[in-house]
Amino acid sequence: MTTISDIEKKVQSLKETFDHSVTDIKSVSELEGLRVRFLGRRGHISELFKSLEMLTPQEKRGAGKAINDLKNNVQTIIQDRKATLDEGEDARLKIDTTLPGNRGYIGRYHPITTVLRQIKSIFHKMGFSVVEGLEVETEYYNFEALNIPKGHPARDMHDTLFVGNDIVLRTHTSPVQVRVMESQKPPVRIISPGRCYRRDTPDATHSPAFYQVEGLCVDEGITFADLKGVILTFAQSLFGSDMKIRFRPSFFPFTEPSAEYDFSCLMCRGKGCRVCKGTGWIEISGAGMVNPAVYKYVDYDEEKYTGYAFGMGVERITMLMYEVNDIRLFYENDVRFLRQF
Ligand code: FA5
Repeated sequence: MTTISDIEKKVQSLKETFDHSVTDIKSVSELEGLRVRFLGRRGHISELFKSLEMLTPQEKRGAGKAINDLKNNVQTIIQDRKATLDEGEDARLKIDTTLPGNRGYIGRYHPITTVLRQIKSIFHKMGFSVVEGLEVETEYYNFEALNIPKGHPARDMHDTLFVGNDIVLRTHTSPVQVRVMESQKPPVRIISPGRCYRRDTPDATHSPAFYQVEGLCVDEGITFADLKGVILTFAQSLFGSDMKIRFRPSFFPFTEPSAEYDFSCLMCRGKGCRVCKGTGWIEISGAGMVNPAVYKYVDYDEEKYTGYAFGMGVERITMLMYEVNDIRLFYENDVRFLRQF
């Protein structure tokens, strides 16, 4: 037989069960399940109301009030909890996962750096190692040991930036030749990329600071044909097998014979255009066989060893590669220009 005290105990136990369950609810659908279990037509609270039939009318009033209080309490808590869960789900729905993401800023290599890396890689495959030089040099290494003594008219070729007595910003990468030969015996096969400085007035093809890549190969039996072979292989590796090269006689005190070499102009395919000044060729580099006079400064046996050297302008190569018609664009730091590479 059900008594009022049984019902009151049941109300108390249901209240505890509900309070405990509602704290674990994480979604609207879980809450709906809980609501049906307590407030549904066959839920715990309806079952409790049915058990009132066994009580006297006076007991019914007391127990009925306890069940009603439980019912109201459960309804209020469910409504509050639903409002909170709805808010959370709304916020989640506001994130549109189909929208494109925010693209972070991705940096990139400066075109000169890209080309320098390619140059290094090509020469590396041909067995050259990469050597670092000094941007601030002594006059001895920049001129004297390269067979350009004081007062020699060749010093006029470079409008030099002096930073102290006998100390210059190197005007070319050729001092590296001397430093390398001083420190190692043949065979020598190196390249040395780096920045050089001249008091050149900036124009479309000249910059006061620019990059060169020096090359030096000294061993027994090295000939001018080796120089031509290496430069042709380099040019075609960088630009493709259509690339042609030509050598013209020139003069440098530290090479004998000396030459300058040009690459065929890719912009007009050799027909002649504004960039190649109508010639179909673009000057890239000075080169030649190492002058035996230089071997004297580094204590190499000029009877035993021969070698070649070259010093090419990296900006010129980069201009050719990306069809850039003004060297100054590389140094203006304009991201609209740089972003294209
Ligand atoms: C030299 O500097 C020699 N040291 C090259 C050399 C090395 C000859 C080894 C023989 C053996 P030249 O002054 O011609 O040579 O410069 C070489 C290259 O550097 C030029 O062909 C050009 O591509 C580049 N260059 C020279 N001056 C500038 C400048 N102001 N701006 C940009 N590129 C330049």
